[in-house]
Amino acid sequence: MAGSCLNLIMEYMEKIDRKSFLINLGTIGAASVVVPSIFAFNTESADFKPFNRKVKVGVIGCGSVSRMYLPHLSNCPHAEIVSLCDIKPERAKNKAAEFKVANWYPHIDKMLAGVPFDLLVNLTDMQEHGRLNRIAINAGKYVWSEKPMANSYMEGKELLDLALSKNLRIWGAPAVVNSPQFAFMAKQINAGKLGILSAGHGCYGHEGPNWSSFFYEKLGGSMPDLGVYNIATLVGLLGPAVSVTSILNIVNPAREIEDKGIIKVEEEDNAHILLEHKNGAISHIQCGFNYVNAHSYEGEEVSTLSVIGSKAKMDMIGYDWWPFAVDMATSEHRKYERLCTERGTYVWQEGASIICEYLTTGKEPLINAEHALHVLEIIEAARESNQSRRRIDLKSSFKWPIVV
Ligand SMILES: NC(=O)c1ccc[n+]([C@@H]2O[C@H](COP(=O)([O-])OP(=O)(O)OC[C@H]3O[C@@H](n4cnc5c(N)ncnc54)[C@H](O)[C@@H]3O)[C@@H](O)[C@H]2O)c1
Repeated sequence: MAGSCLNLIMEYMEKIDRKSFLINLGTIGAASVVVPSIFAFNTESADFKPFNRKVKVGVIGCGSVSRMYLPHLSNCPHAEIVSLCDIKPERAKNKAAEFKVANWYPHIDKMLAGVPFDLLVNLTDMQEHGRLNRIAINAGKYVWSEKPMANSYMEGKELLDLALSKNLRIWGAPAVVNSPQFAFMAKQINAGKLGILSAGHGCYGHEGPNWSSFFYEKLGGSMPDLGVYNIATLVGLLGPAVSVTSILNIVNPAREIEDKGIIKVEEEDNAHILLEHKNGAISHIQCGFNYVNAHSYEGEEVSTLSVIGSKAKMDMIGYDWWPFAVDMATSEHRKYERLCTERGTYVWQEGASIICEYLTTGKEPLINAEHALHVLEIIEAARESNQSRRRIDLKSSFKWPIVV
């Protein structure tokens, strides 16, 4: 890179975040050097004072996914669930009894006026996230949000800015960057073991949820529910994307939902997304709500995500939200070798607990709001690309590599 250009960038980074820039330059393999976009800001707060006590957690949304979050949070040494909330109040009441939570409410306003808490964990319908997250931030709460953090990139960015302006933070699912397999693959890439990074592929689908209609309504869809995992993993491994092309379809226009009967599907249930990464790599993600589950989740032996370079190929075994190994072949050792079979403590539902650990101890999480916002912009751009039948440029970025 020409010296003058580097100086200019360094000058700019002095103003923004010199440390994160140096980390980026110093740790990326010989194959690629990615300069962080001017839209990648540092959200880590230098003057954050860890709580040094358990985080008081309020959980909103006591439906399907709360069955996974509530046990994890209940066992988290850094969290104390103090209240639950759901607009279907019997759900909040039942979960409060099951998990011995003293307070439950039928509305966010009542929850905010009730027993005090530090962190809102938002497990509601996708379309409600942005609105509820904003209410919580305005009430002085930290926020962990299930995906997506908001209904659009701009709304999400506004929420992040609002949180930072109040010395708060917001984070969004998924937590895929926490798995040992993600870390292993990232480290191979950082060390230049893949040579020139060329391509990535991810595939995730199932027969589609039948318990809530929001998955199929406007601003629902298979991308924010399923594709979001592979997108987060692939930009996490290959680096931020600069443009998106997609084909999105609805192949099953009517669905039967438990409490509503037959509903109309209004958002894509069949998606193919092509990403151009900043370093020239191209990745492809496919997701859908009409993919037969040919195999069980447990003991998955099939790779659902891979990255390919000029010197090696890595296949993540299992799902990126639940991986259990990495198969790797290199130009020196062309037969696949099974590596990184340790699963550690990682589980996909750990995001809110990881944030409690950060708030209690100050240990900065790998999960970062800018990464989640970049994924959200990609989903939005994929919709725009499909509608206009054009390739869409992206403006957001995030600090990469995530694992150093
Ligand atoms: N179900 C899963 O296995 C799973 C896995 C990972 C992520 N997620 C994500 O978790 C979120 C919730 O999904 P789910 O499957 O649990 O849906 P769900 O329909 O089972 O639960 C959502 C709950 O939120 C409540 N709710 C909606 N609006 C509300 C509001 N304004 N105030 C209070 N409560 C409100 C609903 O009454 C419902 O009980 C979604 O973003 C989804 O993508 C779900």
